[in-house]
Amino acid sequence: MIVNTELQQKGNQFPNRVVDFKKEVDTLYFTTQNEIILELTVLRDSVIRFRYATGGVFERDFSYAIDENASRGYNHLELKDDKEYYHVHTSKLHIRIEKESLQTAIYDTDGNLINEDEIGFHYEESFHYGGNIVKMSKKAQHAESYYGLGDKPMHSNLRGKRVQNWATDQYAFAKDQDPIYKSVPFYIGLNNKKAYGIFFDNTFRTYFDFCQERMGVTSFWAQGGEMNYYFIYGPQMSDVVTSYTNLTGVPELPPMWALGYQQCKWSYFPESNVKEVAAKFRELKIPCDGIYLDIDYMEGFRCFTWNKEYFPDPKRMVKELADDGFKTIVIIDPGIKIDKDYWVYQEGVKNDYFCKRADGPNMKGKVWPGECNFPDYTNPKVRDWWAGLFKELISDVGVKGVWNDMNEPAVMEVPDKTFPPDVRHNYDGDPCSHRKAHNIYGTQMARATYEGVKKFAYPKRPFVITRSAYSGAQRYTSSWTGDNVASWEHLWIANIQVQRMCISGMSFTGTDIGGFAEQPTGELYARWIQLGVFHPFCRTHSSGHHGDQEPWAFDEGVTDIARKFINLRYRLLPYLYTMFYEYVEKGTPLLKPLVYFDQDDAQTHYRTDEFIFGHHILVCPILEPNAKGRRMYVPRGNWYNYWTKQMIAGGKEQWVDADIDEMPLFVKEGTILPKYPIQQYVGELTIEQVELEVYYGLGKNASKLYEDAQDGYDYTKDRYSYRTFKMVGREKDWIIQQHKRGDFMTSYDTFRIHLIGLPFDIKEIELDNEVVSFEDVHFDPVACALIINKDFTELHLTGA
Ligand code: GLC
Repeated sequence: MIVNTELQQKGNQFPNRVVDFKKEVDTLYFTTQNEIILELTVLRDSVIRFRYATGGVFERDFSYAIDENASRGYNHLELKDDKEYYHVHTSKLHIRIEKESLQTAIYDTDGNLINEDEIGFHYEESFHYGGNIVKMSKKAQHAESYYGLGDKPMHSNLRGKRVQNWATDQYAFAKDQDPIYKSVPFYIGLNNKKAYGIFFDNTFRTYFDFCQERMGVTSFWAQGGEMNYYFIYGPQMSDVVTSYTNLTGVPELPPMWALGYQQCKWSYFPESNVKEVAAKFRELKIPCDGIYLDIDYMEGFRCFTWNKEYFPDPKRMVKELADDGFKTIVIIDPGIKIDKDYWVYQEGVKNDYFCKRADGPNMKGKVWPGECNFPDYTNPKVRDWWAGLFKELISDVGVKGVWNDMNEPAVMEVPDKTFPPDVRHNYDGDPCSHRKAHNIYGTQMARATYEGVKKFAYPKRPFVITRSAYSGAQRYTSSWTGDNVASWEHLWIANIQVQRMCISGMSFTGTDIGGFAEQPTGELYARWIQLGVFHPFCRTHSSGHHGDQEPWAFDEGVTDIARKFINLRYRLLPYLYTMFYEYVEKGTPLLKPLVYFDQDDAQTHYRTDEFIFGHHILVCPILEPNAKGRRMYVPRGNWYNYWTKQMIAGGKEQWVDADIDEMPLFVKEGTILPKYPIQQYVGELTIEQVELEVYYGLGKNASKLYEDAQDGYDYTKDRYSYRTFKMVGREKDWIIQQHKRGDFMTSYDTFRIHLIGLPFDIKEIELDNEVVSFEDVHFDPVACALIINKDFTELHLTGA
């Protein structure tokens, strides 16, 4: 036991000797003589919740983050004790609790130490606010690395850093700036090839220190609430991330169009300007699915109104855009203008829906419309009301998606940029101050918006995007990384942020392509769009103050590059959609940082630039001007250069050519990449044939293809088609087997199979166990391609 007198002198209190013990099914209670209780719950064999009470009483057990559908259940739970310790065993873990101190240590079943308390739980009473500042300190191992924590714009490996979570409107944030918009108190530790995660589910301002204050110690604390964290064991990082995502929830499948390219600016208006931009996409044959209306579409920035001078007939405009394949998405902010003649304000006042100061008046603050009041989205009644407000926009006008901004919540012209701490919130029936509700305000707004859009968009799927978020927000909404800057450094940040969000449970994220503040050069825009098409959410947005930022706003060369890469995204839509399905089904992140992909390779632990898109494509953006290529780390395994189709061996750093119209892209051997034809928007074409780009690989490999109606909910009733391709490659033959699930009928009948890297000349082709002639399968020896029925079960190619 560590007795820390210095900390004690600073007013910290620590648990002492355990004097009482109780077990209730899956939950164990250890009570110390000084009335601290550790409540330990076994949620799953690898997911353990630790919760501490002081003074012998727990708070109401309530969380906005935990998904009610989270898996529960374990195979084994056994308790033992000896003189010094209690020992809890599950089928994956051994948790040891010291009787003298309540300090815990967690081991795997082979006895390897995974994580252990340093001082462990301690706290300080907060006289000023009431409640406790709750703290936890853990030992950091010698070579331990740390990842996660949402949108932090800093190196992906957090060792040596201290960060805090306090949602902040941080216009033109800088590298290493902290905190910014989101608050995701979840990190992954990796040591000795074993990964675990810690989710500190506390909405107060939280801090995480990864060996910055003290070498050898990692700690986290909050300015109120309970010490309440979930320990999630791997040992694979993928197990940690998918378990965390299971705990905090997954989204539903978005409509496929939401994975298309989207165009935004502050602001496109009037109507003629919106139409002009839309028409230009079609004229230049640059695919685009979404067009955004920023705050100027409203009447004096009043939410749920239209500026009739700029947009005389929104319904007609939205329909005309829709006829041309554009989905209209509109911004809705939380600030409701104080205006006695404005119906939303009137309803809010009449029903007492706005947040109040401690002494009674409504919380008042300046945002775009001037003085505003702010709905208390932590009140279920307010959320219902808010959801109902979308009826006209969605049902009548035909808007397809809603963009929630300024929901940190942001307040202008005040030093703290947000509500004062005394503001009251309902917090779903457990009233509290803004200190506790601040970090989840944005998520509850997005949740209410999602419920509204979903209700009125039904039977189509909703689309919502938010700027602020807390853990669990992914159940309701996509997100973007806020007001970045048009600089090369920000391109580096953008790449890290989206990867980090992906391993923090929130895969459906993108950045303002080209940068929001300031103006990119054509070259920077080209490099950004190259990266952006590999982000789950893909949208150009800019403040519009310095010039245009559409794909054609630079020179023709840049337009061609933008078209080339957006085309590639549209060709890969079935691959991307399959990735998304797996995220929805299993919590698998869409992008995988290299350390996630191969944690056993220590080379990956500090890599930031390269990532895996889905399971099979290695992407590495060019992050510098005037580049003709770059050095990059290619992870272990064999990879095909996507452009040249040449195979290289990974496991080392190497130079890769990539002139301005290319970006390093590699496909893993043994991959089937499904491709749709290029469409100007999702659903433009009836897909008549799907191309399978098949990259030969020795040994066994697998790939998947998920398809459905691309919108609506039929897929929940088995109307989907989920194909698994299993491949076995040998020197002189190659077998591809297909298994299919679901009963959705795709519009096409055939696959065009394009064989890449085949190490032999084909002598014989067997299809479903029968030899077929080359003509039967339209074999094209130059392209090395053949056409077969989509429902084949086995294709066997034999070489001479
Ligand atoms: C905020 C948003 C930005 C938006 C602007 C005007 O700065 O982050 O995306 O364009 O407000 O609504």
